[in-house]
Amino acid sequence: MVTQTISSPTYKTPPGPPGYPFVGCLPKMLQNPLQFLMNSALEYGDVVHMGAMGRQQVYLVSHPDHVKYVLQENSQNYAKVKGQTFKELKNIFGESLAVSEGERWRRQRRLMQPSFHRQRIETLVAVMTEAISQMIKEWRSTERGKPFDVSLSIREVTQKIALKALFDVDADSKLKELIGAWDPIYKFVSDRLLTPFKFPVEIPIPSHRRFQEAMLKLNTFIYDTIQERKQGDKQSGDLLSMLLDARDEESGDSMSDLELRNEIIAMFIGGFETSATVLAWTWYLLSKHTSVERKLDAEIAEVLGGRTPTFEDLRHLKYTRMVVEETMRLYPSVWLSTRTSLETDFIGNYRIPAQSSILLSPFVTHRLPSFWNNPEGFDPERFAPEQVAARPRYAYYPFGGGSRYCIGDTYAMTQMQLVIAMVAQKFRLNLFPEHPVERQAGFTLRSRYGMLMTLESKSAS
Ligand code: HEM
Repeated sequence: MVTQTISSPTYKTPPGPPGYPFVGCLPKMLQNPLQFLMNSALEYGDVVHMGAMGRQQVYLVSHPDHVKYVLQENSQNYAKVKGQTFKELKNIFGESLAVSEGERWRRQRRLMQPSFHRQRIETLVAVMTEAISQMIKEWRSTERGKPFDVSLSIREVTQKIALKALFDVDADSKLKELIGAWDPIYKFVSDRLLTPFKFPVEIPIPSHRRFQEAMLKLNTFIYDTIQERKQGDKQSGDLLSMLLDARDEESGDSMSDLELRNEIIAMFIGGFETSATVLAWTWYLLSKHTSVERKLDAEIAEVLGGRTPTFEDLRHLKYTRMVVEETMRLYPSVWLSTRTSLETDFIGNYRIPAQSSILLSPFVTHRLPSFWNNPEGFDPERFAPEQVAARPRYAYYPFGGGSRYCIGDTYAMTQMQLVIAMVAQKFRLNLFPEHPVERQAGFTLRSRYGMLMTLESKSAS
């Protein structure tokens, strides 16, 4: 465990906004979490004391060097699954990779890593482009000038890709049902994520019932898929096959159906929700910044000349990637991560007691004026290599950092670049006039009222 050099004998409690007994700043935070966290960092600095929730002290840590310290340099002292948000996620994911710790986490990560290597992702490009082409066809047949919710449409295509790519399931027939199941689950988790005082899920109030029914649908689908695969002789080389073949190094045991279900559900949800959210924001930003859109179009035309992109092309679609990166700076889907300090520690000049809750918000760090000029402006050039090299590594961390770095980053970036390159070849998307656009910080950072847009064809092909 790293111990920071104690350069000052005067370790203090960090400053912070005034709070209330037992609930700290939570009531203020719940009103508008993003704005409250941002204002707190701007007013009080790199480490902010957000009061105490019950007996647990809460700190917002936003300076890139301190984020690095928590996620990477002294990560052993900062447990992931004890945090408030992760306890809630266990309701869905059970003990899966994303919400496990210690030896169990290490074993699962080792098991799954090969499925996310670049070579493996390369083989998924055909699946991705096929699903995106299908979506473009459907968009072509929408009535001209009629607005539609792009965020729903994009979520559907990323769900389709996740099912096919990760589990080789052709899910057209099942898709509507699964999409329907996701809404109540998303809402349930979003409502409870920051709330410490909540009814146990077993109490049958309507929102809990809707959540339980939706989980039942999702679980039934997943258990059926596992059984079909176990009984058949299909060898897909997909994630599900790898998980079924995996054996514990010591005991030689295979994963139980419950363990399989937990991993599958985490990958499935991780595979579609986060990327879909970023893509909806990308179309919004492009509709507002025509000079960026023109530059994007020029790159796509030059690299692709009208054809469907391949994995190799993605290396050359540099500006397309920069557009995605800049979108994730302003709208990081995972806008908050929490950790719990195991032992008393020192961050910067401040003392952090054991068992404190640490809030890490990429949304906040990505907008700190000390590291970003005109933080609210949309400017993909910030991700030109020389500008990236001039910033501290953790000024930007949409995929997290350290050993718990997102396992699906290459999958996600590939999927997002492909969607943008393929759609931008065919359509310009315009925000429907007067459609309200407001950030909503829930399970991910969505647009509260969806993203109502109209299509303009760029070519007849
Ligand atoms: C734009 C897309 C995505 C974003 C912004 C994103 C973001 C993140 C972040 C910030 C973390 C770390 C959380 C923490 O340390 O507290 C994480 C972890 C994780 N992500 Fe992603 N993710 C994305 C796509 C995906 C995809 C496509 C998958 C799977 C198919 C995935 C699966 C996971 C898993 C399993 C973890 C936990 C890893 C571990 O703890 O070892 N993510 N992601």
